[in-house]
Amino acid sequence: MSQPYEVIAISGSPSEKSRSTSLLNYYTSALEQLGTRVKHIRLTDLPAKDLILGKYDAPAITAVHDAIAGAKAIILASPVYKATISGGLKALLDVLPENAFAHKTVVPLASAGSSLHLLALDYSLGPILAALGTPKVLKGIYAAQTQLTSKGDSYEPDPDVRARLDHSIKELHHTLAPASALSHPNPDAWINRHFIAV
Ligand SMILES: Cc1cc2nc3c(=O)[nH]c(=O)nc-3n(C[C@H](O)[C@H](O)[C@H](O)COP(=O)(O)O)c2cc1C
Repeated sequence: MSQPYEVIAISGSPSEKSRSTSLLNYYTSALEQLGTRVKHIRLTDLPAKDLILGKYDAPAITAVHDAIAGAKAIILASPVYKATISGGLKALLDVLPENAFAHKTVVPLASAGSSLHLLALDYSLGPILAALGTPKVLKGIYAAQTQLTSKGDSYEPDPDVRARLDHSIKELHHTLAPASALSHPNPDAWINRHFIAV
């Protein structure tokens, strides 16, 4: 049987060229360079009908359950829509089993039109993550539109957002690291040596 993915990265934007997915891709490419196995799930790859009609036992949805069950961490990226997460991402979270995130670390990422809805991650995603049994949520990363610059088919975060992403990447990598790595006399040196800045 193939090894389970350590991290599941879920992109909750319906847009092909997406700011929140660009944050997610920045995050996951750094993790992948550190050797972490990441599975990407884009909302746009899932049948809309299964999501809207809550078909939790449809093959595409059970495949998501299975991938999540074997993972240690979940990264959720969403645009802010009407001061909350996208309806599509909420529909996906709705079809997950109770306690789907038990024993997992979750990292929320969001992009928004402005900084007005900075607390959206806490007040809208917080109760959902609690309902899914999440024991540990890393500090969310919120980027306003002005902090992301269009480049080709994606967006580049400004230095402030990059610093927050890099800090979170290190923290998540530390959470995922086997105890043997953390027992290194200087775990930060160990992480820095394996960390390749992008
Ligand atoms: C339907 C809709 C609702 C939105 N609602 C908000 C909002 O309430 N607050 C906000 O700051 N931005 C809002 N925005 C702007 C998006 O959050 C912003 O453009 C975001 O970066 C899009 O992310 P994406 O490119 O990953 O889809 C909204 C955009 C759309 C299309």
